[in-house]
Amino acid sequence: KLILDTLDVQSSIKDTRDLVIPGQTRPASSNEDQITILGALNSLLSREMIKYDTHEIISHVLTAEGALILKDGSHEARVWSVLPMKGETPMTPARLKKAVGDETAKVGQGRAFKNGWIGKEGDGLVKAVSEIQDATQIDLQEIASTGTLKAGEKTLADLRKRKLVSQKKGQWFTAHKGEQFSTSTAKPETDLTADMLVSGSWKTATYKKYNFEAEGTPTAGGALHPLLKVREEIRNIFLEMGFAEMPTSSFVESGFWCFDALFVPQQHPARDLQDTFYISDPAEALPPNPDYYKRVSTIHEHGGYGSAGYRAPWSHEESNKLLLRTHTTASSAHMLYKLAAKCRGESTEEIPGIGASRSTGKDGKDDGFRPAKLFSIDRVFRNETMDATHLAEFHQVEGVVADRNLTLADLIGFMRVFFNKMGIEQVRFKPAYNPYTEPSLEIFAFHPMLDRWVEVGNSGMFRPEMLEPMGFPKDVRVHGWGLSLERPTMIRYGINNIRTLVGHKVSIEGVENSQAVMF
Ligand code: PHE
Repeated sequence: KLILDTLDVQSSIKDTRDLVIPGQTRPASSNEDQITILGALNSLLSREMIKYDTHEIISHVLTAEGALILKDGSHEARVWSVLPMKGETPMTPARLKKAVGDETAKVGQGRAFKNGWIGKEGDGLVKAVSEIQDATQIDLQEIASTGTLKAGEKTLADLRKRKLVSQKKGQWFTAHKGEQFSTSTAKPETDLTADMLVSGSWKTATYKKYNFEAEGTPTAGGALHPLLKVREEIRNIFLEMGFAEMPTSSFVESGFWCFDALFVPQQHPARDLQDTFYISDPAEALPPNPDYYKRVSTIHEHGGYGSAGYRAPWSHEESNKLLLRTHTTASSAHMLYKLAAKCRGESTEEIPGIGASRSTGKDGKDDGFRPAKLFSIDRVFRNETMDATHLAEFHQVEGVVADRNLTLADLIGFMRVFFNKMGIEQVRFKPAYNPYTEPSLEIFAFHPMLDRWVEVGNSGMFRPEMLEPMGFPKDVRVHGWGLSLERPTMIRYGINNIRTLVGHKVSIEGVENSQAVMF
C-alpha cells in the first residue's frame, strides 16, 4: 500500500531506502527493511502493478563490541568520564583499572591521551578538558541507523580495523508504475471458479499471472533402493531369457534342504557354527518325504548311482537342524525336487512357468520330465565377520536350467549371454570346487574401470548324487550359476563400502537421488 500510494503521488520511487514504513519513525534504510520491501515489490510485480530495479550496496553493521560502545561509549570516553577534574586528587592507574576494567583502561588511556582528553599529574591521571565529543560513539550511532557513514570510507575502514563494524551486502530498489498499476491492493484472483462464471464477475476480475519460473513443491513419493533397481534389471534379463521365478520366501531351511539334498558332506566346514546361523527354536525341522530322505542319507553314507558316497556315518540330527539359508540353492533344491515329481510317478500341482514343452526320453516315452529354466533373487545369511565388503546377510542371484543332455558348453554359453545382457562383455571361467556341482566354474569379468578381472559368480553342473535321488532320469542335466546382487550394485553405483548400501548408515537422500539403472 505504501509503495502504491507513493507511486500514485510521485510516479516513481528513486530509492526505497527513503520510504518510511508505517509505524516506524525513520526511513527504511536497514537491510531488514529492504528485505521486507523486496517481498512487497515482488508481490506487486507478479500482478504487473509495478516494475523495479535492484541496486547492490555494501552496508555496515555493528559488531558485538561496536554495539557495546554504542551503548556505553568508547573505551577512551569511559576512561575520561571516571577521572577527576584537574586540581582534584589524581587517580592512580591501579584505581582506574578497577573502575573501568583492564581492557578499557589499557585501550582507552592511549586514545584519550592522543585526543588530549586526559593528562598526567604525578603518578596519577586527571581530566585535561571539561567536555568531550565521543566521535566513535556518534559514528556508530549513524552506522546503526543508516548502514553507512557520511564521513566516508576512511573512517569506516578505521572502524572495520577496530572490529567495531563489519560489511554486509545489501540491496535497495527503484520502482515505477507497471501496466496494471492501481492503488487498490485487492488480491487478484488465482482461480476461475464456478461462482465467478455464474455471477459474471470473471469478466472484470483481475487475475494473478502464472509464474512459470516457480519451482514445484517437492513430491514426497517413495524411492527404490539401488539394490531393488539392480534386482529389477537382472530380473528382466532372466524373464526375457524365458526363465520362471522360483518362490524363495522361506529364509529358514533345514540342514537337509540347504546341504544334504545338495550332497554337501555333513562334515563340510560351511555347516560350522562359524559360517551358518542355526535356529534354536523350533529345535527340529519338519521331516522331508521319508523315501527321498532315505535315498539322500544312503547316497551320503553308502553311495549309489555309480558314486562311492562319503562313507561317513549319517547324522539325522545334523540333517534336521534349522538354519538361516546360506544360499538360494536351497530353494533351487526344493524346486528341482518338485520338478522331478512326475518322474517319480507322483502327481503334483503344476509349477507356474514350467511344463509347456514336453520332452521324451531316449526310448521315446514320456518319463514325466519337463525342461525348466528357473531363477531367483533373494536374501541369504552367513555368519561372517562383517567388514567393508561383507555383511551377515546379502542377496543371491541364481539361475538354474534343467534339460536332457545339457553340456558344460551350454552352461558357459548361457552365462556369456546372461552377463553380456548385464553389460559385462568379457568373461572368463576358472575351474573351481562346489560339493554339489561337477565340473564347477568360477566366473570372472573384466572390469574396465578397475582395469582388472573380478570374480562375479560361481557355477556348475549339479552332481548326479543330487539329481538322481530326486528321481530325475539319467539323461537330465541341470546346471546353475549364482552371484551376489550387492557386488554388481556397488560397482554400478561406485560404492566401495557395503555399509553405505545396506544398514543403518544408508542415507535416505542418497537412495532418493540414486540414478536409474542401465547396464
Ligand atoms: N550356491 C552357490 C554359491 O553360494 C552358487 C551356485 C549356484 C553354484 C548354482 C553352482 C550352481 O556361491
